[in-house]
Amino acid sequence: MIKKYSPISLKLPKMLHGADYNPEQWLEHPEILEEDIRLMKLAQCNVMSVGIFSWACLEPEEGIFRFEWLDQVINKLYEAGIYIILATPSGARPAWMSQKYPEVLRTQQDRVHNLHGGRHNHCFSSPIYREKVRIINQKLAERYGQHPAVIAWHISNEYGGDCHCEYCQEAFRTWLKNRYHSLEELNKAWWTTFWSHTYTSWEQIESPSSKGERSVHGLNLDWRRFVTDQTIDFIEAEKAPLKAVNPDIPCVINMMELFSGLNYWKVAEHVDIISWDSYPLWHRQSADDIEEGMRIAMVHDLFRSLKGGKPFMLMESTPSLTNWQKVCKPKKPGLHLLSSVQAVAHGSDTVQYFQWRKSRGSFEKFHGAVVDHCGHEHTRVFREVAQVGDYLNKLDEIVGTSVESEVAILFDWENRWALEDAKALRNGQMNYIDSVLRHYKVFWEKGIPVDFVCEESDFSKYKVLITPMMYMVREGVAERIEDFVKQGGQFVATYWSGIVDQSDLCFLGGFPGPLRKTLGIWSEEIDALYDGEKNTFVYSNGEGDVQSYEAIELCDVIHTEGAKIIGTYTSDYYEGMPAVTVNTVDEGKAYYIATKSDHNFYESFYKSIIEICELKRAPIYTLPKGVTAQLREDKNIEYTFIMNFTKEIKEVVLENKDYYDMITMNGVKNQIQIKPYEVVILKSDK
Ligand code: GLA
Ligand code: ZN
Repeated sequence: MIKKYSPISLKLPKMLHGADYNPEQWLEHPEILEEDIRLMKLAQCNVMSVGIFSWACLEPEEGIFRFEWLDQVINKLYEAGIYIILATPSGARPAWMSQKYPEVLRTQQDRVHNLHGGRHNHCFSSPIYREKVRIINQKLAERYGQHPAVIAWHISNEYGGDCHCEYCQEAFRTWLKNRYHSLEELNKAWWTTFWSHTYTSWEQIESPSSKGERSVHGLNLDWRRFVTDQTIDFIEAEKAPLKAVNPDIPCVINMMELFSGLNYWKVAEHVDIISWDSYPLWHRQSADDIEEGMRIAMVHDLFRSLKGGKPFMLMESTPSLTNWQKVCKPKKPGLHLLSSVQAVAHGSDTVQYFQWRKSRGSFEKFHGAVVDHCGHEHTRVFREVAQVGDYLNKLDEIVGTSVESEVAILFDWENRWALEDAKALRNGQMNYIDSVLRHYKVFWEKGIPVDFVCEESDFSKYKVLITPMMYMVREGVAERIEDFVKQGGQFVATYWSGIVDQSDLCFLGGFPGPLRKTLGIWSEEIDALYDGEKNTFVYSNGEGDVQSYEAIELCDVIHTEGAKIIGTYTSDYYEGMPAVTVNTVDEGKAYYIATKSDHNFYESFYKSIIEICELKRAPIYTLPKGVTAQLREDKNIEYTFIMNFTKEIKEVVLENKDYYDMITMNGVKNQIQIKPYEVVILKSDK
């Protein structure tokens, strides 16, 4: 059957299961490779990511290359039916290179030039570094680009950070010249007359620094944009020699959770498949795992959305614990399977780990791995990994299927950067991500799939568009939102929206700036509350009685200009003023939630929207607290993943049709019991 999307590789049209593998650490113990292959088969792994930090082994001296060990690893794995995701080694460089060419090392924002050490400690602009990367990538491509084992290029490792060396300053100035063409335009966009910051020559412009300039918001914002573009430029330079040899091998980079340093919407355009590294904080003190399960679900949805819904790769996750969290808790029994299949539920076609085997020494020797220092398979962790392998084998037909959503939530990096740098209201505690999650949670609990969008995305395919704290509204976006509403869309905006344009310059003439007409309100001022300080408002979703809800963090003091008031503040000097409004524009509605509230409110608020829009959801009547469901679908088939993030047995009432449990291979009807941390995958006709 033809699926909406192709598998990650046609060479292996299956769910992928594997890990980061560093056999170069064990070259003096040749028996380890043989043993690893035996264990990989036992754990039902079919793919390994190899070569991620191997530069010093691949090029031990400048211009002297050693590939024999890698040939052996790749060939032996392939003979055993294990495929390779082959890395370029640029994430860390050999000591000889730093010694001979210090310019490859990073300069920090305070202009201190780094010593050799760590990883990811390299300049993206250095011509020598780029040349060295080109050479090694080309050699790897020539040697392995046509190898039948290689199914993807894993480029570098977790791109991130910036460099402030002279090369980077020059590149930044060139980038600014391309964006603004003249200093006059730049000065205008950055509002430099303030504090006498006017630039009279390009050479005066320096990247933001704690030793220099950090108060020009336009500069800070453009530096972040530049860092994304310069990183992309480096990624493209890495890809060029690989693609030249074999354009058919997909190139991926491993992205990081809600990493703030790169605008992943832009980066996504330069990779073939999204892949990311997931390290949740399970089993927190005095908290259940429900909130963390919900947060990670949101991140999976965001990564799937970055490439319009195309299945992604869970490139790294730990089979047990990390070694860098404050308290490094192993996953309790069952949670590894649940968190692994959760990724698949949200659109991943792989489950991969950091790391296959614990290293004997150095920084990550105590990080979780499939194979522990004891060296054998008789461990709880190994058994749970093998169980994931077993499940994935039974889920192969889900490869290439999609998650289809009718709800979109805005998650926009430029908005986040500007909002967090704004010097306003609650400095350092604007809580953008928390605001996004409060809306997301309602849908997660009800088994309603959600996509994420940025301001440039196409909104027209959704029924509901939610834009929490849309502080920055770039050119043309408000017009597209207005069209969305006119065509019948439900648009939900919140406090602290429509404040600045793409240059971080405030809209004049009244907030929420270009959204004012669609929302039918004017925001006159905004009250900032301390943590723990609360106001209240009353609201009715039109179904039940009017109820009182809490208002926290920010309370927008607004006036209606055509919108209808459906919620009202009940305390402080803005008592009696609107807290929630709705404006009807042609076929659609534009809601404004003027404050932040708790889950009770958001649940009540979205209830009628969910009903009116008849939003697509998992075929389940009741989902108890802490149990959620996620849908993947094919033309006529639905796969419902039911996941229990609690430590209790729960009852789930299914819609009335026939289901097939893909793991037990039994028929299921009406109702199921789901055990603590259990995940059940049901197949049914649509
Ligand atoms: C990151 C890196 C890995 C490893 C893990 C540890 O994701 O990519 O190399 O260091 O963290 O959690
Ligand atoms: Zn640099």
